[in-house]
Amino acid sequence: MAFSSSMSLNLLLLIAMVASNIISLYHLSSTVIFPSSPPIPPIPDHLLRQLHSIRATINRLTRLQQIPADTNTVRTSSKNQTIPSDLLLYSRLSPIASSCHDYPELLHKFMSYTPFSLCPSDSDLAEALILRGCHPLPRRRCFSRTPQKPTSSLPNNPFSSSLPSSNVIWDKYSCKNFDCFNRLNPNLGFDASREITKFMSYESELDLPIPQFLQIAKTAKSVIRLGLDIGGGTGTFAARMKMHNVTVVTTTMNVAAPYSEAAGLRGLVPLHVPLQQRLPVFDGVVDVVRFGHAVNRWIPVTMMEFLLYDVDRVLRGGGYLWVDHFFSRGVDLETVYGPLIGKLGYKKVKWATANKMDIAGLKNGEVYLTALLQKPVSR
Ligand SMILES: *[C@@H]1O[C@H](CO)[C@@H](O)[C@H](O)[C@H]1NC(C)=O
Ligand SMILES: *[C@@H]1O[C@H](CO)[C@@H](O)[C@H](O)[C@H]1NC(C)=O
Repeated sequence: MAFSSSMSLNLLLLIAMVASNIISLYHLSSTVIFPSSPPIPPIPDHLLRQLHSIRATINRLTRLQQIPADTNTVRTSSKNQTIPSDLLLYSRLSPIASSCHDYPELLHKFMSYTPFSLCPSDSDLAEALILRGCHPLPRRRCFSRTPQKPTSSLPNNPFSSSLPSSNVIWDKYSCKNFDCFNRLNPNLGFDASREITKFMSYESELDLPIPQFLQIAKTAKSVIRLGLDIGGGTGTFAARMKMHNVTVVTTTMNVAAPYSEAAGLRGLVPLHVPLQQRLPVFDGVVDVVRFGHAVNRWIPVTMMEFLLYDVDRVLRGGGYLWVDHFFSRGVDLETVYGPLIGKLGYKKVKWATANKMDIAGLKNGEVYLTALLQKPVSR
């Protein structure tokens, strides 16, 4: 291509600006003129193709046809449905996650609300969209609902014996308090008496008690202050690390139970981001990343690979990746996941596997892996 690299860069920047300003896209023709900048030479083919794909994507998102400017709403071409005006307004202000395009009905429903009033009771809708990768969700201009009679006495201790159920909106759950969830399944993470024992004892090779981890790090002269717990439920890992003055934020989703609220009530930071999301943390700043049970063989391998490299990005040199009870088929651990993790070039401080002995595990020949891996100090 005959273009100088700075010219290509300028054009890329231009396209980035265009992409973040949806409305200007509809006024683009094949020659792009930006006000108050010198005339731009013809756009090279590959950049034009990028532009076209951005345009096509956005068209798919809104499936819209412009109609006369005297009305605030726009009709879809394929469906007899109007696009909510707040969705249009928001998408002019900010980009929406690309995966939102694939779920126009859900997105439409989510954005069909009355601005400046109380939001609909639709946290399950937000959850459904985020789980499908539609994150960040578009912002809305409504007031989120609050519990009717919340208690103001919140515990400072993240292992406080009971979480105040009155501080949660239970509409979308069949359970109406935390005790009910504990009776259904005491392993969900809502039972403080059970949570307080986690990460403290060594019952099998798959366990890595936190005191032992901290000792390993100390011996390696690697200071642990900041961590990220991926798929960490109600935040018990963060809670235990808090007792050691380590700050851990937890990514968690509200799949069938109010995990985020529970973590918040414990005074722990719940990040409401799905597994497929780029970690909202800068490069090389975190001392430890832990994979909780949400990270397992159900994640498509390619996505798993991107996740691992993103973890590598946020870990500082010498930081630790802690894979906690990761399960997969035994054969896949050998041929797929082992080599995948190996590509990171981390030091294997711990690598323990054992058969997964529950019914599903026995049926599918599954194994657990618990590993502690240390990122090289520099590359
Ligand atoms: C949408 O469909 C209904 C009935 O199917 C029709 O009465 C209405 O006029 C249609 N609206 C638009 C805007 O086309
Ligand atoms: C955590 O910090 C507090 C206040 O600085 C200190 O008193 C306590 O000993 C620390 N705990 C641990 C486990 O380091």
